[in-house]
Amino acid sequence: MPDKTSILVTGASGRTGRAVISALKMHDVTIRGYIRRREVAQELKTLGVDEIVLGDLFDFSVLEGAVSGCGHVIHICPPMNPRETELATKVTDLCLKHGVRRQLLYSVLHPLLSDVRHHNLKLKAEEYLVNSGQTYTILQPGRYMQHHVPIWKEIMETGRHRMPFSVDAKFNIVDLADLAEAVANVLTGDGHASATYQLAGPQALNQIDMARIISEVTGKLIAAEPKPADEFRAGAKKIGMPADRIEQLCIMNEHYDKHGLKGNCNVLEWILDRPATDFATYIKNNLA
Ligand SMILES: NC(=O)c1ccc[n+]([C@@H]2O[C@H](COP(=O)([O-])OP(=O)(O)OC[C@H]3O[C@@H](n4cnc5c(N)ncnc54)[C@H](OP(=O)(O)O)[C@@H]3O)[C@@H](O)[C@H]2O)c1
Repeated sequence: MPDKTSILVTGASGRTGRAVISALKMHDVTIRGYIRRREVAQELKTLGVDEIVLGDLFDFSVLEGAVSGCGHVIHICPPMNPRETELATKVTDLCLKHGVRRQLLYSVLHPLLSDVRHHNLKLKAEEYLVNSGQTYTILQPGRYMQHHVPIWKEIMETGRHRMPFSVDAKFNIVDLADLAEAVANVLTGDGHASATYQLAGPQALNQIDMARIISEVTGKLIAAEPKPADEFRAGAKKIGMPADRIEQLCIMNEHYDKHGLKGNCNVLEWILDRPATDFATYIKNNLA
């Protein structure tokens, strides 16, 4: 019988993985963190990881060793990976084989968006998991407020809020800290088997709203304008982003430009048992 308090976290060294590990440490669990770079091992141990698994996620023998003996698995896929469905289905097969009590799949808000590849790949991963017989919970998080971290300096220096889509497109952006707390609650609590939860932020905001809120919090006048797709593409190329990832981000931005990414925060607030963090509070507490 696997240890019921042992939780495997894939993508442990990433933005989501680290937040999830910090939130899980508030509970009485042991954490196995899956990383591919030896140099981050100590940092993750300091964060709260009890046991490190080192390897590529697509090395399925290492993956099997990581799943084996775990009570729970949370699978956080590397973003925009073209082999996302293959990896997620392998994780599910291994969970079944090794008697994992519950697999938590970290998906995305509206995986049904057929024009955005990573949404579509996550939808297929969800379908496989639902039909597999494995006990699961699926989480569908919205766009993170943390997308403001890399552009914060530019916003403050230029007074311009520039994301690569229309200033009118609305998003229920969500604080990753809320999502991580929700992951930990769902993983350690009872009654979440066979559930699929949409986890979106409390306000539908466009770039004009975000700029206004940042102005109110910082006292600095910020204006919203769309970043042209060509400029986004050139910037991503300059920092060495792989061509396929740039292409997929551009497709996602085209979708955002037309439709935004709205959702509902009722389920998130039910899981947190408190109001979700609004954008002004996030900015005040983290960036301003
Ligand atoms: N960003 C959002 O707003 C948002 C919203 C909803 C859902 N999501 C989903 O959340 C997930 C995680 O996103 P994130 O922003 O946390 O990603 P991230 O910060 O880029 O982290 C990705 C993690 O995967 C690891 N990784 C990548 N390729 C690997 C491989 N071949 N073998 C082993 N490890 C590998 C990375 O390791 P290294 O540290 O070594 O690179 C890193 O730990 C994605 O599936 C994304 O679609 C994101």
